[in-house]
Amino acid sequence: MKDFKRTLITSALPYANGPVHIGHLAGVYVPADIYARYLRLKGESVLFIGGSDEHGVPITIKAKKEGVTPQDIVDRYHGIIKKSFEEFGISFDVYSRTTSKMHHDTASEFFKTLYDKGEFVEKTSEQYYDEEAKQFLADRYITGTCPHCNNVGAYGDQCEACGTSLSPLDLIDPKSAISGSKPVLRETKHWYLPLDKHETWLRQWIVEDHKEWKTNVYGQCKSWLDMGLQPRAVSRDLDWGIPVPVPGAEGKVLYVWFDAPIGYISNTKELCEARPELGSWETWWKDESTRMLHFIGKDNIVFHCIVFPAMLKAEGSYILPDNVPSNEFLNLEGDKISTSRNWAVWLHEYLQDFPGKQDVLRYVLTANAPETKDNDFTWKDFQTRNNSELVAIFGNFVNRALVLTQKYFDGVVPVCGELTDYDQQTLKEFADVKQEVEKLLDVFKFRDAQKEAMNLARIGNKYLADTEPWKVSKTDMVRTATILHISLQIAANLAIAFEPFLPFAAEKLRSMLNLKTFNWNELGHIDLLKTGDKLGTPELLFEKIEDAEVEAQVQKLLDTKKANELANYKPNAVKELVSFDDFMKLDIRVAKVLECTKVPKADKLLQFKLDDGMGGRTILSGIAQSYPNPEELVGTQVCFIANFPTRKLKGIDSEGMILSAENSDGKLVLVSPSKLVTNGVNVG
Ligand code: 2FM
Ligand code: ZN
Repeated sequence: MKDFKRTLITSALPYANGPVHIGHLAGVYVPADIYARYLRLKGESVLFIGGSDEHGVPITIKAKKEGVTPQDIVDRYHGIIKKSFEEFGISFDVYSRTTSKMHHDTASEFFKTLYDKGEFVEKTSEQYYDEEAKQFLADRYITGTCPHCNNVGAYGDQCEACGTSLSPLDLIDPKSAISGSKPVLRETKHWYLPLDKHETWLRQWIVEDHKEWKTNVYGQCKSWLDMGLQPRAVSRDLDWGIPVPVPGAEGKVLYVWFDAPIGYISNTKELCEARPELGSWETWWKDESTRMLHFIGKDNIVFHCIVFPAMLKAEGSYILPDNVPSNEFLNLEGDKISTSRNWAVWLHEYLQDFPGKQDVLRYVLTANAPETKDNDFTWKDFQTRNNSELVAIFGNFVNRALVLTQKYFDGVVPVCGELTDYDQQTLKEFADVKQEVEKLLDVFKFRDAQKEAMNLARIGNKYLADTEPWKVSKTDMVRTATILHISLQIAANLAIAFEPFLPFAAEKLRSMLNLKTFNWNELGHIDLLKTGDKLGTPELLFEKIEDAEVEAQVQKLLDTKKANELANYKPNAVKELVSFDDFMKLDIRVAKVLECTKVPKADKLLQFKLDDGMGGRTILSGIAQSYPNPEELVGTQVCFIANFPTRKLKGIDSEGMILSAENSDGKLVLVSPSKLVTNGVNVG
């Protein structure tokens, strides 16, 4: 690798139109944070840049729906997101926003430079316009019938039923998703970045010079390049965003994907202005000895590997990223995480339900990080990893080492006596951990790196279990001292090794061990604590998570699923018309339930004894699964078809049919008169 002097880490700017969830953490922010902490712990010069992405059409639509301004929306979510990141220990050096003046000025200037250099092409084209809402429509906000599969809800950029990419002009019978009206075509002028002109150097730079990029990133870039790059519009007709700073651009703003990555630059500027000791922002962005890394999710690859580099190159004075570590997606309990369907674990809600357990989530998300393929988060796995790894191995080891030192040596690091072969072997095993973890972190394999760090805890736990100082102490205090001395050194190593992964637990451990400072280069040393050092008070690092706690989370998700089903229920089409005479043939009546019991050996059947005003009858109905306590129906009135032919079911004569409605969740609900009526009267 080139000899870099400093590292600039950026992490994708999340849209400020909703809170952040576990998918954001797992995909981008936890890995970026681990990497930033790791470099800082090694004493390297590093900046970690974050911020909110506050422009784009979805924010304007949300504002409209709520009857507030887009600024209200981004103020609300920028605050929530920033707080969530702080609470989870994401150690940004700056977390700013794209509505800041600094950003508006920077992005505006950037556009102007490219414009003045003739790096854009201007093009007029016809686009859909909503005359009611008085605005041009982004592709996503036009729906219509897919010309390929006839799906009536296809979007202007894609049909989700058949997966075909579409252009709005392909849609049959287009409708505006904003007002529902039929849009009209209007001419409009925009500025395009001619990516086709950048193709040659981009191909050389990625395909030839960056073969070391993760295969998912490299593969996606190569396939984009192989398909051939097209000019991309960098402006939009919208009243929310950064005005296009050239004549004849009234009512037009920079496309959100043009301004957002410039946000990394604006935020670096803001930081360096506030803290001059960090040097000039230009050193971080323009000096070849800076290593720039973009941490992103897979849907952002093309923008960070192709579009933004083309913008930087066109400007001419910037460096390009050295790597773009991108993750795949995290699913939740087998389903795609979705903000609109509320299928997510929101960070602010997690913290209400699991206060103080930030590290548990960080640990589980890294252990299951979607590094090479999409992965699944389940609450069961969350509980198991906490209880059988963090509590049973890491926490248990540290607690035993500290509590025993407290008990036998008054909380003072005891003398290390002569080492046995087993001690030597244990020390040798953990001496290699530093190198192993480093090797993995250097290539962004965070989940393996954490596993390797966890091995250190396993080694410690096994060492204590094998040497049994609680027994040895009965006969040999010199040996007990040695065992605990070694154990405490392993615990101190754990505090360093886990700082990037579990910063809260590492800090707690550091303070329990009274380690003054720590740095990565000391990892693997067995003299981090000195004989005679006084330790702090032992506390539990992790707590067991009970079944009821995760069951409540699963129930919350089931409730969400049910609410979604109800909200999305589409009634069946109305059946063929029937004549009045046909209708009159049906003899529907009301009866009172006298008895209602389950039919033996039939899962679905209930047996009703009814007072039908005509001497009584028995009817069997297949609704047992919707009424687990059938006795509760006794005394209620139901409607039934009296002239339905008698059928034998499970050896019982069923004399009619009881009416029920099938709810959207598949449950059956009996149909009853809304007031008491005489048993046997007709319905019609
Ligand atoms: O996908 C997203 O959430 C975008 N807001 C990411 C932007 S990254 C960068 F360009 F700012
Ligand atoms: Zn289709």
